[in-house]
Amino acid sequence: MNTPSHDSTRRAFLQVAAASAVGASLSPRAFARRMAGSTPPPTLRWGIVGTGQIASSMASSIKAAQSADLAAVSSRRLESAQAFAERYGTAHAFDSWEEMANSDKVDALYVATPTSVREEICIAAARGGKHVLGEKPLASLASVDRILAACRENDVAFMDGTHFSHHPRTRELQARRDGWIGATTLVDSSCAFNLQDRSNIRYNTELEPMGAIGDAGWYNMRAAVECLPPGVKLESVSAVLRRDKETGAAMGGSGELRFEGGLRSTWTCGFDASPSSMHVHIEGADGQIEMPGFLFQDSDHSARLEVKRAGGEPTTHRIASGSPGSVLMFEDMAAAAADPSLRAGWANRTRRTQALLDAVWHVALAAEASGR
Ligand SMILES: NC(=O)c1ccc[n+]([C@@H]2O[C@H](COP(=O)([O-])OP(=O)(O)OC[C@H]3O[C@@H](n4cnc5c(N)ncnc54)[C@H](OP(=O)(O)O)[C@@H]3O)[C@@H](O)[C@H]2O)c1
Repeated sequence: MNTPSHDSTRRAFLQVAAASAVGASLSPRAFARRMAGSTPPPTLRWGIVGTGQIASSMASSIKAAQSADLAAVSSRRLESAQAFAERYGTAHAFDSWEEMANSDKVDALYVATPTSVREEICIAAARGGKHVLGEKPLASLASVDRILAACRENDVAFMDGTHFSHHPRTRELQARRDGWIGATTLVDSSCAFNLQDRSNIRYNTELEPMGAIGDAGWYNMRAAVECLPPGVKLESVSAVLRRDKETGAAMGGSGELRFEGGLRSTWTCGFDASPSSMHVHIEGADGQIEMPGFLFQDSDHSARLEVKRAGGEPTTHRIASGSPGSVLMFEDMAAAAADPSLRAGWANRTRRTQALLDAVWHVALAAEASGR
């Protein structure tokens, strides 16, 4: 659990982030109330859709999070829902996500189904008045926009399931990057691991149409979104993909995103790396930042980064956290559910990540079709 000091620092950050995003639209009284507020947001009662790998992992994260209660689960089979409910001490088990989306037993749905069966559930959840945490990737930017529109119309929050965005290392990096290394010129990322099991949904082109580009490449795109200066405009993309001979699924890819002002992001992802390779390397005018294992934290939940500057010794910065990013994600959802001004920042991250992913996917398909 978080320490009180961690909580108040975190709440202060959320309040400042909200204030900087919408401060101009808040009355001075509302602004003062928000800055002074110190009570945790109301508890969200969560329902999980799906009983697979990430659903199981996030059940534990929901249980560890403040302002979160694991209340229900739905599965295509009632027996699976009941077994999951028993394993994680969940009060309600449904054999229909529609029923759970319209139930008064939950306030929020975590949609942990394959990508091709995610939009319909997210939209139904929003229409049922439930806040929505949808797993990544989404099917397309158009799909993201339909989900976000449904969330806006029903006054509920939306977030995607990217954990590292919620760890304090990410905002420490954003706050101090320019001071450490000067103007950023390049973000290079790798997200590649070894997945040989062809029965995994990631090799099923109907359930996960973008294969490794969608599953692992999502993190490369998010690394660009989080580590480049905010709002920098994409100018051009080059990308290639590799297909698995057995299933035809995309099992890896690489490429370059070129942004205005000469900024670049190079990336590699795949299901065929052994050992795994996961890093972010940022170059700036005056130095470099390394984040090895950028998706993970140490056992005390802290995460590291290393700053290198010409002529000096590398400095390691360890950024402490009371909880892992996955737990903080559910706490941030509770905050966004309680405070609508916090929602746009998360929605923009999802949109920008998905827009890069769509661009990469279409360029890689075109390159494949033209035999390049
Ligand atoms: N954010 C992260 O860190 C993270 C990590 C891992 C995965 N993911 C994403 O989460 C998604 C799920 O991954 P996973 O590894 O948990 O997959 P998984 O183990 O195969 O679980 C998917 C679950 O979705 C449910 N489902 C509903 N409709 C389905 C259908 N038509 N076909 C198959 N399953 C269906 C199933 O639950 P029932 O049988 O109970 O209905 C199944 O157990 C993927 O898109 C993946 O990219 C995100």
